[in-house]
This record gives sequence, C-alpha cells and structure tokens, in this order.
Amino acid sequence: MIATNRRTFLMSAATSAATSAIAMDTPPVRIAVVGTGGRGSDLIRALSTIDSARIVAICDDYAPHLDKAAKYAGPDAKLFDQYATMLKEIRPQAVVIATPLHLHHDMVMEALASDAAVFCEKTMCRTVPEAKAVAAEVAKRGAVFQVGLQRRSNAIYRQAVAMVQAGMLGRISAIKCQWHRNNNWRRPVPVAKNDPQWRSLEKKLNWRLYREFSGGLMTELGSHQLDVANWILGTPPKRVFANGGIDYWTDGRDVLDNIFCVYEYVVTASEKPTRAERPGPHTVRVTYSSIQNNAFEGASELIMGTQGTLLLTQKKGLFYKEGGPDVPWAVTGQPADDAAVITSGKTLKLDNDPWAHRGTPYEINAESDDTRDELADFVKAVAAGNAKTTADVQIALQDCATVLMANDAATRGGWVDYAA
Ligand SMILES: NC(=O)c1ccc[n+]([C@@H]2O[C@H](COP(=O)([O-])OP(=O)(O)OC[C@H]3O[C@@H](n4cnc5c(N)ncnc54)[C@H](O)[C@@H]3O)[C@@H](O)[C@H]2O)c1
Repeated sequence: MIATNRRTFLMSAATSAATSAIAMDTPPVRIAVVGTGGRGSDLIRALSTIDSARIVAICDDYAPHLDKAAKYAGPDAKLFDQYATMLKEIRPQAVVIATPLHLHHDMVMEALASDAAVFCEKTMCRTVPEAKAVAAEVAKRGAVFQVGLQRRSNAIYRQAVAMVQAGMLGRISAIKCQWHRNNNWRRPVPVAKNDPQWRSLEKKLNWRLYREFSGGLMTELGSHQLDVANWILGTPPKRVFANGGIDYWTDGRDVLDNIFCVYEYVVTASEKPTRAERPGPHTVRVTYSSIQNNAFEGASELIMGTQGTLLLTQKKGLFYKEGGPDVPWAVTGQPADDAAVITSGKTLKLDNDPWAHRGTPYEINAESDDTRDELADFVKAVAAGNAKTTADVQIALQDCATVLMANDAATRGGWVDYAA
C-alpha cells in the first residue's frame, strides 16, 4: 500500500510468526474459552477463522453473554456455566481466558493443573505475587503460556522493533505513550437501580470500575503500551512516579479516571556509542498518560531516538528521520539571530513550529489483524509444544509489575521501585 505523499519501508524478517502455516496432518488444537463477554467474543470470532484451531467448549456464568457467544462459537462448542466442570468434562488441550482481571490467577492455575496450555488475556494478574506464582508454575510444568499482548504479534510493531535493533533510530532517548479516549467505560445495567439485583449486576458488568476486580486504566490500557516500552528498551523499568485521580466521574467508581506516569529505565548502552553518547548504562524516561475525557491523541507510542522517531499504532507505523538540533544557542551559548521571537504570546518563527521538524515519513509497509495473529501464534506454539511463545510468561510478569507499580505510585505518592 503506497500513498503518494509517503515512502514505504519494506518489511524484512520481522513479519508475524503467525503467517507460517501448520502442517496439514496435525489435528486441530482443541480449545476452550472462558469469559465470553466483549473480549472473549472477539477471541472466539478470531479463533473460528483459524483452521488449526477447534473451539470445543465455551464457558460463562452470565447467560446473556454465553448465549450470544454460542451463535458464533460453532457447532463443536459445548456450553458451560461452571469453569471447573468444563475443564473436567472436556479436558481441552488449551484454554483461552478472557474473564475479569481478579479471576485470572485462579483460572490460569486450574487450567495448568489440568495440563492445558493457556492463553490469558492481559493483564496477567491483579497482584505481583499472583503473577510470580503463575510464572513459577508455568516454568515448573514447562507449559505453553501466552498473554494477550497482541502488539507482540503485530507485524508493524515487530518491524518497528527490528528497526530499533538495527540502529535506525540511533540511541533511544525517550518514549511517550498514551491512551486517551472520550468515554466513561460504563456499561448499562439491565435492571433498575432499586432492583435487588442491581448491585451484583453492576459489579459483574462494570468490574473495570472497581479496584476489587480491576487495576483501572493501567491494567486495562497501559499494559499494552508499557509492554511496547519494555520490549523496545529490552528491560522492565527501574522506578516510576505517577499521579492520578477520580476527577471527573462521580458515579461510584473507585479506579482512577486519569493517570500520568514518568517511568525511569536503565538501558544498556549500544556496543559502539558515538563520540557524543554517554557510554555505559544510561537512563531513558518513558511517559505514559491515560485520560477518559478527550480523545485527541488516541492510543499510540512515540519512540524517540537520536536519528529518528517512530509513531506506532496497531494499524500504522510511521518513521520520521531526525532533522538535527534546531536550537542554535545550545551550541553557541548565545541566542541565534533566527531563534524564535515571542511577542504577545505568539511564536513567530517557523523553527518552533512543532509540525515543521518532521519531514515526510516512511510508512512501515505491513498490516496486521493482531488479535487473530496472536491467536494463530498461540495455536502454533501449542501444536508444536513450544513454550517460547510470542508473549510468554516472563513478558507477562514484567508487564504486570510495570503497570501495577504505577497504581502504587499514584496511590501512595512518590517513586515506586520495580519489583518482580
Ligand atoms: N487484549 C485486548 O485488546 C483486550 C481488550 C479488551 C479486554 N481485554 C481483557 O479481557 C478480559 C475480559 O475483558 P472484557 O472486556 O471481555 O470483560 P467482559 O466483562 O466483557 O467479559 C468478561 C466475561 O467473564 C465472565 N465471567 C466472570 N466471572 C466468570 C466466571 N467465574 N466463570 C465464567 N465466566 C465468568 C463474565 O460474565 C463476562 O461475560 C480482561 O482481562 C481485559 O483486560 C483485552
């Protein structure tokens, strides 16, 4: 796909692992799905397009969601409202878990105990000790485990990481990412507020809004983007400072409705630092914000290096070459004649135009249906008995600890160190 005003960046070895096929004589992987709400339905639809997968059972304890999902799970899928019964009766080869966060630990452990491979939606667990216990169990069993961080299977992100590793951006000096949207996250409850069932249905359907079940914006949204930072920088962060609040909604929720974080990463220097680069390990700062009342910036990650910048989304990746320093007095110690002149609050000189520096981007020439691609990667790993999945349990553990530490920092105040 080549647009006239853009150059495309040709893909090389970084295409999704999902694109390679499984041998024809291998029987389809027998998969059960638990949690058939919003995400579970997406996963069922995607699984039903993968020839090497067969959905043998689906489970949900909320009948309207189970009934809806049954329509597209296919004729082989038996329906259950009890997870333990499903595992016992069906003995699936793999379990896909798409239930609320607070249930992930126990459901993963039960699936592992029944010798099933596990695909668990992000975030892996609600606490770090739970996540460590899952990681230890997966390692002990040599189990196939994948977490639902679909950018790891997205051809655009894979190509971007290959570009960073090839040195095309120079030294990465900062990452800025955000997920900004304009909706309240609340789902309608199908009974009146004075109905005795209202409270339990509210918690069931709007579990995201309560700390009892959810890590809020960090576990629901930030987990995807901080994983990109961990992936690109090759390490989890060292510490984080975060601030947030419930500053807009007054609807009884107790998770934050906005959060702003500054993470510090300590990154190993490239093998051959340039003359100007600080040798040895150096600090890279990553900012993350999530708000719910303005969608202007949407969801993206901006990877900033000394030689270039990558702007990444699930559907498009743009690479901008860096134009060089544009603040002359940093070198001379004196304002240059052509430096920006500011009068009456107006910047008159084009040098300071935030759009002028960018030049024409290269577009990463790749497309991905990353939900389907991550499942295809998982099915392939299960069929091959390959424990090294595209988003394995160590990636999941690091991601979990990375997002939960920001919630701690926002709650307690001050810096919180990474611990996993
Ligand atoms: N990777 C992604 O892009 C993505 C997107 C959305 C959600 N998610 C993740 O998927 C998970 C589910 O989110 P969702 O939006 O689908 O939530 P949801 O509320 O729409 O669905 C959860 C389902 O789990 C069911 N459930 C709850 N307890 C159960 C139990 N004990 N046994 C069986 N079923 C039970 C609920 O009835 C509900 O149908 C979360 O971890 C979320 O973070 C991931």
